Amino acid sequence: MSNEIQQASILTRTDVNGVAVLTIDNPPVNALSQALRNALVHHIREVGNDKCVEAVIITGTSGRFIAGADIKEFKGPILDPSLPDVLKAIEQLDKPVIAAVEGVALGGGAELALACHYRCATGDAKFGFPEVKLGIIPGAGGIPRLLRLVGPKITLDLVAGGRPIDCETAFAFGLVDKIIEQADKIGAAIEYALECVGKPLRRTSLLSVATFDADAFNVQCVAWRSRARGQASVIAAVDAVADSWDRGFAEADARCRLEFTRLRTSDQANALRHLFFAERQAQHVPGLDSVQAANIASVAVVGAGTMGRGIAVACLIAGYCTLLIDVDEEALRRAALAIGVAVEKTIKDKAGKSDKASQILSRLSTAQTLQDANNSDLIVEAVFEDIDVKSSVLTQIAMAAPPQATICTNTSYLDIDQLAGAVSSPERFIGLHFFAPAEIMRLVEVIRAKTSGEQAVATGLRFARSLSKIPVLAGVCDGFIVNRILAAYRREMEYLLEEGALPREIDAALERFGMAMGPFAVADLSGLDIAWARRKRLAPMRDPQERYVKIADQLCEMGRLGRKTGAGWYSYVDGTRQLDPLVEELVVNSSREKGITRQPISEAEIVDRAIGSMISEARKILAEGIALRASDIDLAITNGLGFPAWRGGPLYYADRMAENQG
Ligand code: 3HC
Repeated sequence: MSNEIQQASILTRTDVNGVAVLTIDNPPVNALSQALRNALVHHIREVGNDKCVEAVIITGTSGRFIAGADIKEFKGPILDPSLPDVLKAIEQLDKPVIAAVEGVALGGGAELALACHYRCATGDAKFGFPEVKLGIIPGAGGIPRLLRLVGPKITLDLVAGGRPIDCETAFAFGLVDKIIEQADKIGAAIEYALECVGKPLRRTSLLSVATFDADAFNVQCVAWRSRARGQASVIAAVDAVADSWDRGFAEADARCRLEFTRLRTSDQANALRHLFFAERQAQHVPGLDSVQAANIASVAVVGAGTMGRGIAVACLIAGYCTLLIDVDEEALRRAALAIGVAVEKTIKDKAGKSDKASQILSRLSTAQTLQDANNSDLIVEAVFEDIDVKSSVLTQIAMAAPPQATICTNTSYLDIDQLAGAVSSPERFIGLHFFAPAEIMRLVEVIRAKTSGEQAVATGLRFARSLSKIPVLAGVCDGFIVNRILAAYRREMEYLLEEGALPREIDAALERFGMAMGPFAVADLSGLDIAWARRKRLAPMRDPQERYVKIADQLCEMGRLGRKTGAGWYSYVDGTRQLDPLVEELVVNSSREKGITRQPISEAEIVDRAIGSMISEARKILAEGIALRASDIDLAITNGLGFPAWRGGPLYYADRMAENQG
């Protein structure tokens, strides 16, 4: 017996056997906009007053539950009804309310699920509290409710880390009461709701926080605080959890809401929201939205070195049949082993378990000849960074690949327009610049050569997105967006060395500014040889009058290529970074040779010049049309160079600085 009460709206009510099913349909992601909050209040009141209704289900359409509060509303004052009031109304209903979760339940969506008396979920469900990534903390009872359901330890990891958990983990934690079949979500949820009728209502806010190991929790708080790197929301999340567990629900809830409200309009939250929308906008390239990307089922990666392996891992995890090609049999054998380890680790980090690794690895095959790529839909060349080597490999790939295949190069610096000359039918050729470690780093620069066709570019963007990466479109120039800015930044840092600073002082200053790592520590980590090769390549074109700092070349000539050789800008003993007097000697010698009197350089000057060099190169890149938008550069530099996301990226930061000075 089904009674359709309201249709074609943001929230539809359908009654089945005394169960009112409230289905949210608020595209694109079922965000809790004011209109939806109003609709929820209205329907909750109605079903509460309806004597025929014995239980209520809240669910979502289009394979999603709710992606959280409507972020677009965060700029101005939040209009009534507030989300906490909506959730209060749900929890106080005197008949069981069941959240039936499919797909994402994030932020306010997860908080809404926690306010329901019971939760059932399909296997693909994901629960998460990503608020810290937006510069805020959960503001609708999420923290005090989580504390009561899963205890302080898990609450802290979920809220300070912001990473979602899968359905199985949520079930193991007690966030989900029943796992249901996706194919019959509504039927199974109704059956479960009827089981709940007559049971005592479980209001999460009335539960008490289970006893826990306070010392271990304090250690965990310290660890999270030390990882915050200047991000206020992470510190606020830790403080909110630590401050809430021993308070009554209403008091803790009010304090968290207050902190959420304070943070919502903070500079950091504005900056992080800028990046959130920048990430979405970067996927939309003028003129390409209507272009059909090619269907990709199988990928070939050519070159079994570090980059090739990382790209293969990313493809495998995303579900692609992946063929790894290298002429060297031993390199392939080693790569297959390394890929196995990386897949296990990535899966474990992502979902807290490793049981799917064998299934993922069954999609991997290897080959020694390029002819084997004759069935691949997309081929990524990741061989040695040398124009002749790459050109020759690309010519062979183009001959072996199916004519409709998309061919990509993973060069970091080389001229893609020149490489395109090596590819027959170059309209199917683009750059896909992954960053090391490719299985982890989310940024991929999609490089449009002069000859690249629209479909190839659209395919590159969609393919990178399908790997859960952040694609940013760039034009051809030396280093594209990220490495070009990196080169300018490093050059300025090397000038600072000659003028009086030491590597450790520069690294420390920039780490305090919020960079993930200082420039010299990063150079050691990624290896000094690629930038060295680039400098040698560009040497004939260099203006002899240009100021040139030779210290990095000298380190490379000594075989100090960074961590991998045990020494670079620092030396490494058992993997631990140590200062090296030899480097200081080289630095001081370089100043002396140029007749520069070394002066103390303040931390503020280091930061100003470092970030200033990025900003000025970024502006040139924008002016030349290498990047489409300022926000694309911000996105690329925060994700590719470890620029602090809470500062919004170099150009956003420059605008805010100008506003503050103006
Ligand atoms: N509010 C408003 N718009 C949102 C949104 C949200 N919470 N989440 C996504 N959107 C928009 C995007 O801007 C995009 O718009 P566009 O098409 O105009 O560019 C569109 O929805 C589709 O988004 P994606 O391209 O990201 O779609 P995907 O399918 O790749 O990913 C998703 C979907 C996993 C839900 C992802 O969008 C996401 O992670 N969203 C943010 C979730 C989040 O952070 N929630 C917490 C919000 S804060 C909160 O709830 C506070 C509470 O404690 C009070």
